[in-house]
Amino acid sequence: MDLQLLGKTAVVNGASQGIGFAIARRLAAEGADLLISARKEAALISAAEQISMETGRKVRAVVGDLRMADGCDTILAAVHECGGADILVNNGGAPPLGAALDFDDLRWSRAFEQNLLSVVRMIRGVVPAMAARGGGSIVNITALCTLQPMPNFGLSVSTWAGVLGIAKTLSLELGPKNIRVNTLCPGLIDTARADLVDGPVSSGPGNSELQEALKSIPLGRKGDPAEIAAVATFLASPLASYVTGTTLAVDGGISKNLI
Ligand SMILES: NC(=O)c1ccc[n+]([C@@H]2O[C@H](COP(=O)([O-])OP(=O)(O)OC[C@H]3O[C@@H](n4cnc5c(N)ncnc54)[C@H](OP(=O)(O)O)[C@@H]3O)[C@@H](O)[C@H]2O)c1
Repeated sequence: MDLQLLGKTAVVNGASQGIGFAIARRLAAEGADLLISARKEAALISAAEQISMETGRKVRAVVGDLRMADGCDTILAAVHECGGADILVNNGGAPPLGAALDFDDLRWSRAFEQNLLSVVRMIRGVVPAMAARGGGSIVNITALCTLQPMPNFGLSVSTWAGVLGIAKTLSLELGPKNIRVNTLCPGLIDTARADLVDGPVSSGPGNSELQEALKSIPLGRKGDPAEIAAVATFLASPLASYVTGTTLAVDGGISKNLI
């Protein structure tokens, strides 16, 4: 199936490894040129070189920390140098795990800036050029815990719930500009981050809940980052031209709600 991505420009944040890397790699495999970002330069450049070598697409790497306005501005300046983007994938890290009331105002502010304000800043920055190019697609990566909260994930649940809110709002406001906004909620995905959270030696907050969750996945396994990438790439592509404002769990069937 031709996803009609040849020659499109995609910005993928948090793309040096894990889910973001898998999305960037798949978009490039489908013909998109990339601008990828993360904080650690060596890993980011290595990811860019690997994707470029595998796909022959242009892959530009920009170091930036999404938790700060400066970091978002650095990434956005590079996007503007490229003449704008057709696709934006908002992906990155996540705030710490722990009991919600144990975090002080500073931690809450940082979580807000990391998970929600970074998404607003990136979208605000790319939209004018995206609209001028005739439209585009924005895909946000949150987590299943946003739809089905678990103890100790309060910082992420609360701030990503805001991402669901802004995504739906923007699907209404940007639809007339032919810009679509959708959000994915991955379940348990086999990445380095997941190993940190629920690895065999981890006894950190969230571990027991995640171990229980793993046992109840109908498909009986964690997801592969490529399985998130396949869905994200479809939503980013013109083939999903009538899909906007959706929130989609990609979770091996673990969520128990009807819709
Ligand atoms: N893995 C799962 O089971 C799972 C499930 C649901 C949701 N998620 C969410 O999906 C997202 C990606 O998860 P993952 O498992 O792929 O994580 P990962 O393997 O740790 O990769 C995270 C990527 O984001 C970058 N990053 C982290 N913090 C950043 C920041 N402040 N600014 C810019 N880049 C940053 C990392 O590079 P640098 O460290 O160099 O910045 C890396 O490239 C996270 O938000 C995670 O919470 C993951």
